[in-house]
Amino acid sequence: MSDPLRLGIAGLGTVGVGVVKLLTANSDAITRRCGRPVEITAVSARNREKYRGVDLKPYAWEDDPVALAGRNDVDVVVELVGGSDGPAKALVETALSAGMHVVTANKALLAVHGTALAKTADATGAALAYEAAIAGGIPIVKALREGLAGDRVTHLYGILNGTCNYILSEMRTTGRSFQDILADAQELGYAEADPTFDVEGIDAAHKLALLAALGFGREVNFDAVYTEGISKITPEDLIAAEELGYRIKLLGIACQTDHGIEQRVHPCMVPADSAIAPVEDVVNAVVVEADPLGQTVYEGRGAGEGPTASAVVADICDLARGNRSPVFGVPADALAAADDAPMAKRHGAYYLRLTVRDEAGVMSGVSSAMAEANVSIQSVLQRGRSTSEPVALLITTHETEEAAMMQAVDAIRGLGAVIGEPQVIRIEHF
Ligand code: HSE
Repeated sequence: MSDPLRLGIAGLGTVGVGVVKLLTANSDAITRRCGRPVEITAVSARNREKYRGVDLKPYAWEDDPVALAGRNDVDVVVELVGGSDGPAKALVETALSAGMHVVTANKALLAVHGTALAKTADATGAALAYEAAIAGGIPIVKALREGLAGDRVTHLYGILNGTCNYILSEMRTTGRSFQDILADAQELGYAEADPTFDVEGIDAAHKLALLAALGFGREVNFDAVYTEGISKITPEDLIAAEELGYRIKLLGIACQTDHGIEQRVHPCMVPADSAIAPVEDVVNAVVVEADPLGQTVYEGRGAGEGPTASAVVADICDLARGNRSPVFGVPADALAAADDAPMAKRHGAYYLRLTVRDEAGVMSGVSSAMAEANVSIQSVLQRGRSTSEPVALLITTHETEEAAMMQAVDAIRGLGAVIGEPQVIRIEHF
């Protein structure tokens, strides 16, 4: 039997504790599969006294996570601290610079500093593994980097945030409020430390930037991801979607276009009979279109202790077996420069919900604004009839360009009979 692979784990929150439990519970199977034992030698977290439900006495304790990278009884640093900067970045940079392998679940760190960290890893020969950073337990990094190494990816999209999918599913099926359901998601351990990262689409954007780098062999460019969350989605939108034959999902979409690579995260109406529509609850799904393979769909639990720990431990097993791949599927120095398509060029259909005073001429003002911007209306539905209360107008358009639709919405926002902010949801036909 070969020498054990020795781990230093930084961060003992939901995921860190899940990794300790999984390595302990499946120790025999992991040893057999890797041909060598995997052992934890040292751990680090903010609060040493906190009871975490696992026995940490066998492991050395470091108050400073960065100290793990200086220990000579650690072969792999497992970074589960989180955050794009601060101690997580210091630890990963120190470890990689010293040639020490790193396994991380930190999508924020990689989305912001991924290209630089990949270059450091390549320079010292260290591995930087991050399966748990994208879509929790789904092995999508392995699928894109190894499984599709011979293909050309043209388009990928997915449900990348379990909390948002859980909230939208629960809102649709129970009619409960957004805030109530968000509180449940936090209790279940799905949500980020700062849940605005989930509901405003930032967490999904971190993951999408990594998927785009992997799928298209290019530098990570998180700043170019168009990002919109679900906090403005109302029960009326969910009901309207259902009536129109759609479901509302927060999707991350990356595709090759004539204008460069589109990277966008926003709520979408997707056909109720599409592959992604029935994916509910905390489940994530990624759909990849590649040539010559065609479409593949990857689905599984995207958040929480077990699914995330499963992906972290899979990366650890890879390192124990000596498996290595370039961080983003291409040596870091050979990654293509990011060429991002402007959001204004997005081509597709739209749903528009307006709150209006119910009086003569409103529809004509709205349709003139649409015509002026060269946006063609597909359907119009008025909800209710009242001379005293505002009513809802639900409009869908034919395919158009984002810039044209935004021009129409700007003009509609200025119409006297329109009350409040127009609600715009993009329709995606897969
Ligand atoms: N907060 C994330 C989610 C956890 O809800 O998907 C996994 O990244």
